[in-house]
Amino acid sequence: MGRADTLPPVIQGGMGVAVSHWRLARTVSQAGGLGVVSGVGPDLLVARMLQDGDPGGHVRRVLASYPDQPYVQATLQRFFRPDGLPPGQPYRPIPKLDLHQKPDAVRLTVLGTYVQVALAKEGHDGPIGINLLEKVQIWTPAALLGAMIAGVDAVLVGAGVPSHLPRLLTSLSRLEPVTLPIDVAGASTEHTITLDPGAVVDGLPPSLSRPAFLAIVSAHVLASYLARSDDTRPDGFVIEGPTAGGHNAPPRRPAVDETGQVAYGPRDVVDLGKVAATGLPFWLAGGYGTPERLADARSQGAAGVQVGTVFALSAESGMRPELRNQLLASLADGTLDVRTDGRASPTGFPFKVAQEPGTVAEPAVVQARERICDLGYLRTPYERDDGSVGYRCPSEPIDAYVKKGGTVENTEGRLCLCNGLLATAGHPQRRPASSGLTEEPPLLTLGQDVDGARTLLSLYPDGWSAADVVAWLLDGARV
Ligand SMILES: Cc1cc2nc3c(=O)[nH]c(=O)nc-3n(C[C@H](O)[C@H](O)[C@H](O)COP(=O)(O)O)c2cc1C
Repeated sequence: MGRADTLPPVIQGGMGVAVSHWRLARTVSQAGGLGVVSGVGPDLLVARMLQDGDPGGHVRRVLASYPDQPYVQATLQRFFRPDGLPPGQPYRPIPKLDLHQKPDAVRLTVLGTYVQVALAKEGHDGPIGINLLEKVQIWTPAALLGAMIAGVDAVLVGAGVPSHLPRLLTSLSRLEPVTLPIDVAGASTEHTITLDPGAVVDGLPPSLSRPAFLAIVSAHVLASYLARSDDTRPDGFVIEGPTAGGHNAPPRRPAVDETGQVAYGPRDVVDLGKVAATGLPFWLAGGYGTPERLADARSQGAAGVQVGTVFALSAESGMRPELRNQLLASLADGTLDVRTDGRASPTGFPFKVAQEPGTVAEPAVVQARERICDLGYLRTPYERDDGSVGYRCPSEPIDAYVKKGGTVENTEGRLCLCNGLLATAGHPQRRPASSGLTEEPPLLTLGQDVDGARTLLSLYPDGWSAADVVAWLLDGARV
């Protein structure tokens, strides 16, 4: 059974897509924190890293220890391009996972999280976690299996109510077939996905160790609910407040402030006494990225803090360096503006968007972009009249979305997070066009509380490493 009470006081939060990749997580873990890789889009990332020529041979090195070597060879043959892709050539598409869990798509996802976790764990004994989103349920069992084959120490899941995770992890550790109920809009019957580990990966050991499970929640009510039963109880919580980067939980009373941003009120303040009453360890997130806030969190009974923004801006971040430098320059000259956008994310959850030129925060950039959904991680299943299941996303072309029963109102203001975030991480979708090749524009997310980043910028005017962050937090808070 995974133990959460042995996890360190500093957690580097999971940041998709690939902002928290193996290099960042490994650096954090080596410095004494819990490094967390993002588990979003692992199939696409491994395929793209191989098509980029796998510089340094990192992916191929850890693949040599993957149990299913025939599958590794087949994957290398399919995706590895020793010299990278010739200029002007788009990436090769990958099989998409859906409710049917096609073995080809499952295997690539398993391999993808294995690679991220195995690389993050290489060469040290520190703990490594993986972050998944409850909203992206269809990938969950396969993503967990790959991470567990690589020996992941902790699984952190947010963006929903992750009540099935404890049982899922226990069953996967025993290599038993698992079944997960899936939310399908308009469903007249229960829909599930099933994964049988032995049927998709050859050469597995007799069992896998069960990682600790931390549920990322934003309300004490949800923490108490999950803690109540053996079936749903996590090993600990991350309590995330509304200034955190990425997605945020919707406010309990929907409201918009005078600047058009999602507004939070007193009902959104978490009662930490009630969280502590669950008896489970918890970490605080959202504006806790300074030594003073870490000390403050500990004095309120927390085991520590989960921090994102200052790691996203560190040298090991998976954000493209020129975008990271652009954010650091805006921070330095006082123009950095991060908005809590209630429309941007197709999930309907509020999402933090940095208002930077050249990104999809600019209406002109959005207008110039072809509205297209060709990655599909945030598509949600819906039941058609004939009982079959389709997939739709409010960021896809409006006609297509409406034909699938969606409403025009629900498409307004939506951004393509999949393509935007992948472009930020340096693996942009490129498509042939009459004018040559189009490349997806980036989307930048960051937390709204940048006190920590501002202090680090004064300490390290030329930029900082993730190891500097961990040392600064731990030494300053004297933990
Ligand atoms: C660039 C970025 C991407 C993020 N992506 C995710 C994500 O994919 N999943 C998740 O659970 N949290 C995500 N977060 C939230 C962080 O894991 C963390 O909880 C949060 O950033 C903490 O607040 P802070 O930014 O004020 O330090 C993201 C944060 C940032 C800055």
